Amino acid sequence: MPKTIKKLAVLTSGGDSPGMNAAIRSVVRTCAYHKIECVGVYRGYEGLIDGDFKEMDARSVKGIINKGGTILKTARSKEFRTKEGRQKAFDSLIKANIDGLVVVGGDGSFTGALIFNQEFGFPVMGIPGTIDNDIVGTSHTLGFDTALNTVVDAIDKIRDTASSHNRLFFIEVMGRDVGHIALNAGIAGGAEEILIPEEDLGLDRLVDSLNRSKKSGKTSSIVIVAEGDKIGKNIFQLKDYIDENMEGYDVRVSVLGHMQRGGSPSCFDRVLASRMGVKAVESMLEGKTNYMVGLISGKMELTPLDNAIKGKSKINLELLRVSDIMST
Ligand code: F6P
Repeated sequence: MPKTIKKLAVLTSGGDSPGMNAAIRSVVRTCAYHKIECVGVYRGYEGLIDGDFKEMDARSVKGIINKGGTILKTARSKEFRTKEGRQKAFDSLIKANIDGLVVVGGDGSFTGALIFNQEFGFPVMGIPGTIDNDIVGTSHTLGFDTALNTVVDAIDKIRDTASSHNRLFFIEVMGRDVGHIALNAGIAGGAEEILIPEEDLGLDRLVDSLNRSKKSGKTSSIVIVAEGDKIGKNIFQLKDYIDENMEGYDVRVSVLGHMQRGGSPSCFDRVLASRMGVKAVESMLEGKTNYMVGLISGKMELTPLDNAIKGKSKINLELLRVSDIMST
């Protein structure tokens, strides 16, 4: 029989993403609704190791649903990667009478949670929070939708200046291993080309495509480049390559960077975070452990954590085709 849960802890870990606060709020309020105690852990696994905890009630999460970042702070903990670090974290949890842990983060954070569970049998539950949308077991991670809106807004603004000057812009967006942000925001922003890690376009095809754009009468162009793209050149080298190998292009580069991780979460992310928090807590109360909550075909579903951390979510091939057709 699993131990009855009377007190849960929640932490945010890894890169922050818009919607993390809404998820904290949902976890805390679902605990309050079911009359169990809730503790917020500061600085992710670092705070777990140090016992940096704060009792939270329904009122302590007021006014945060619309805030970017995470009120609990976040960290990438080196110490939690060691057995000694995890032992300290376990001791802190036991000392505070905590019966289960909700981890809001990405695959690195879930890997830590899974190892922790395997070593100490401590109940864990994951809520996927990362702008990259690279987790298996959910169509959307928390913050992805907000980041897309931020990127599209930036592309629209860059388009204004690109078309005024007849320029070609390379715009780098986040996505270390996957091209979800680049592909979706690229289509929505009307990009001429989108370079993503999953598909190596090759420099020749990029040049052909830009030549075709020019011949078809386009006076300005936008190329979206995911940071993890495999073309073999970074965005500044791409600019140099086009400068050296193509006539008549005035090229500029814009790296959007960490602005993509900030800002008030979209309506979609707030609702998603609220649903995920409820599902995470209620699943733990039902005795489930080692799962990640996710959105699958519009419903809240559980995926075993070890499946969620296996590989990366796949790019939608239909979107690739749509993008090709749209850039005609
Ligand atoms: O949140 C994920 C991510 O946005 C990646 O796309 C990016 O490579 C990384 O974070 C950068 O994070 P940091 O600057 O925190 O190391």
